[in-house]
Amino acid sequence: MDVRPFWLAGRAATGEAELTVTNPHDGNVVAICSVPTEEQVEQAIAAAEAVRAQAAALPVHVRADALAHVSRRLAERADELATLISRENGKPMMWARGEVARAVSTFRFAAEETRRFSGDVQRLDTEPGGTGRMAYVTRVPRGPVLAITPFNFPLNLVAHKVAPAIAVGAPVVVKPAPATPVSSLVLGDILAETALPEGMFSVLPVPNERAAGLVDDPRLPVVSFTGSGPVGYALLDQVPRKHVTLELGGNAAAVVLADADLDWAASRIAVFGNYQAGQSCIAVQRVIVEDAAYDRFVERLLPAVQALVTGDPGDEKTQVGPLVSEAAAERVEQWIAEAVAAGGRLLAGGTRAGATIAPTVLTDVPADAKVNREEVFGPVMVLSRVAGVDEAFAAVNDSAYGLQAGVFTRSLDVAFRANRELEVGGVIIGDVPSYRADQMPYGGVKQSGIGREGLRSAMEDFTYEKTMVLTGLSL
Ligand code: SIN
Repeated sequence: MDVRPFWLAGRAATGEAELTVTNPHDGNVVAICSVPTEEQVEQAIAAAEAVRAQAAALPVHVRADALAHVSRRLAERADELATLISRENGKPMMWARGEVARAVSTFRFAAEETRRFSGDVQRLDTEPGGTGRMAYVTRVPRGPVLAITPFNFPLNLVAHKVAPAIAVGAPVVVKPAPATPVSSLVLGDILAETALPEGMFSVLPVPNERAAGLVDDPRLPVVSFTGSGPVGYALLDQVPRKHVTLELGGNAAAVVLADADLDWAASRIAVFGNYQAGQSCIAVQRVIVEDAAYDRFVERLLPAVQALVTGDPGDEKTQVGPLVSEAAAERVEQWIAEAVAAGGRLLAGGTRAGATIAPTVLTDVPADAKVNREEVFGPVMVLSRVAGVDEAFAAVNDSAYGLQAGVFTRSLDVAFRANRELEVGGVIIGDVPSYRADQMPYGGVKQSGIGREGLRSAMEDFTYEKTMVLTGLSL
C-alpha cells in the first residue's frame, strides 16, 4: 500500500514515520499515512505566519471561489469520501453519506457568507462630541488558526474549522484525530486545487502527544478544538491568553411530554440515540419522559431500538456500526455493567461483540451513575420518568454539560419556556437534541465548551472588530 503524504503549506510532503489507519469493523488497513517530523511542523507554522498578511488581504472573490470549488469537488467525490469515512471511522455508509453532504453545505455556506461578511458603519453624531464623525467597523482575522479535530466526524468537523478560517482570510493548520486522518488529507487534496496562496493550509497527522507543541506556538494565536472535556480544558489551561474555542461533549437529553406525537418521538430517539454508535456530542443519552406518556412511549421506543440494523458499516442498510475501537467499546460495556450493578435495569441491548455495542436502553439508573453523569459516547440511552414539565426541565439542567436539548411537545408556551429555562447552547423543539444545521450557531454552555461554530459564528470567532473613526465629515 502506498504511503499517503500529508499537506505542508499547500504541498504534499512525506516525513520519516508512518501511521497505520485501520477499519474498526474488521481491522483491515485503510491507509498508511506519513507523519511529519518536528522540522516539517515548524515549516508549516512558519509558512502560516509568513502568509498571514497576504491571507487577510485576499480579495473576497478569491476566498469565495476557493470555498465554492471545495464544495463542488466534495460533491463530485461524495461516494469515494463516504466510503473512506465509513472505513476509517467505522461509521455506517448512510451516516457517512450524510456527513459528506453536510461538508458540501458547510463549504457552500462559507462561500456565501464570505461575500456577506462586510463591515458596519455607525454615525457618531448622535452626541454633540461626535458631530461630523463616523465609525467604520470591520472584522480582522486574529491570525493563523490551529484546528484540532475529532474522530467522530472526520470530514465535517474539519470543514467547520477550515471553511470559516479561509472565509475570513486566516491560514489554518489542521491536526486531525490520529484514528481518522485520511478524510482531512483528501480535503487537503481538494484545497490544493484552489488558487489559495502557499502556506494557507497544512494538514499534519501528528500523534496527540505532539499537539501541545502546536498549541504553545505563539504564531498560531487561535486554537479551535473539538474533542473531550479533559483534553480541551487542559489545552485552555496551557494557553489561557490565546483565543481558544472548545467544542466539548455532552450528555444530551430528549424530553418527551404527554402532548407529543409519541410515534415520531420514539422513532427519532431510537435512531439518534444510536446513530454513529452514539459517537456524537449531541446523540440522545438521557430520555426524560412525562409520567402520563411513559408506558405508551416505552412500548413504541423499544421495538424501534430493537429494529435498528446493526452490523457491517459498509452495508448500505446498516444503521448502527462499531465504535471507533474495541477499547472504546470495552469502556462503554464497563459503564453499562456499573449502571446495572447499581440497580439499573436493561430494557434492550447491553452486549458487546468486538468494537460493537448492541443498542442499549437502561432505566432505574441511579443519578450518579456514569451513564447519567458523563458523556457515554456509545449507543446507550437512559430512560427516566418525571411528573411534568418542571421536573423534566430540572432533570435536563441537572448536568455538568449543556450542549443541546430536544423537547417533544406541541405547546408553543412550553417551547418558549424550554428556550428560557434550559441551560444549553441549543434547544430543539419537536425533535432530538442531535439536530444540527451547519449554518446555525452550535456550541455549549457549562462544561460543553466555549464559543460557537456554524459558519457566521465561527467567522466572528476567528476575527476581531476593528474600528476606524473618520472625522471632519459632512454627514
Ligand atoms: C459533535 O459531535 O459535536 C458534532 C455533531 C454534529 O455536527 O452533528
